[in-house]
Amino acid sequence: MHTNDAALVSSNDVVLFGADTFASLAWFCLTHDSPWRVRAFTVDAAYLSNGSHEGLPVVPFEQLLEHYPPDKVRLLLPLGYHAINGLRRERYLQAKAMGYQFISYVSSRASTWPDLQVGENTLIYEHAIIQPFARIGSNVIIRSGTHISHHCQVADHAFVAAGVTLGGNVRIGEQAFIGLGAILRDGIQIAERTFVGAGAVVLRDTEADGVYVGNPARKGERTAQQVTGFQSS
Ligand SMILES: CC(C)(COP(=O)(O)OP(=O)(O)OC[C@H]1O[C@@H](n2cnc3c(N)ncnc32)[C@H](O)[C@@H]1OP(=O)(O)O)[C@@H](O)C(=O)NCCC(=O)NCCS
Repeated sequence: MHTNDAALVSSNDVVLFGADTFASLAWFCLTHDSPWRVRAFTVDAAYLSNGSHEGLPVVPFEQLLEHYPPDKVRLLLPLGYHAINGLRRERYLQAKAMGYQFISYVSSRASTWPDLQVGENTLIYEHAIIQPFARIGSNVIIRSGTHISHHCQVADHAFVAAGVTLGGNVRIGEQAFIGLGAILRDGIQIAERTFVGAGAVVLRDTEADGVYVGNPARKGERTAQQVTGFQSS
């Protein structure tokens, strides 16, 4: 979905951002279910507590250009939804500006169709169902067992947790977070940076930065930033 004038990389080598359990999950899936070869992990220097993760080197993101330059590796940033996906958005845009190309991962166990359109730096895990005419942006995470119905649109930087059900024509805005097992009624629009709590049943359009929980889902008093932590840098 995005054009990228980054350097061409001839190898299958990939560096993953993160050195936590979520990074381990992506490493495992890539290793067992993709042509990509994970060579290293990278984290912000402030979070560099260990020189290795899953038996591979961990290098500071601030020194990534020296260790693994953009003409040698591609990147994948399997970051969570901290700061309502703002941290993943920021690191993705930084890495893009540094000249890196990104891979995407679509599990071989996901159910997809030939018209599948997925942006870059996107992960789609096992048993996700992506129906025809659905569109998935860049820097998106779709966790396992999610049902994305026909003509749904998931915008850049969104996070859809496991077991979510989207009716047809649902639109999920940039940086929105949809919690475990939530149900989104067909045709509704989830505004940018909305936080939908686990198990919520969302029947109406949401407002940007709102937090919605319950059945039927109601807007709470806190903002999505307050629920997911503020951006530190
Ligand atoms: C909405 C959410 C952020 C609230 O978390 P929290 O601020 O820690 O809230 P608490 O657990 O302290 O609960 C506060 C109150 O809200 C209620 N509540 C919390 N989450 C709720 C939810 N998803 N739906 C309905 N009510 C909820 C609690 O029962 C509690 O009610 P009480 O005060 O009457 O006892 C969290 O529960 C949630 O849904 N997170 C999403 C988890 C998820 O999907 N993770 C994906 C991992 S990949």
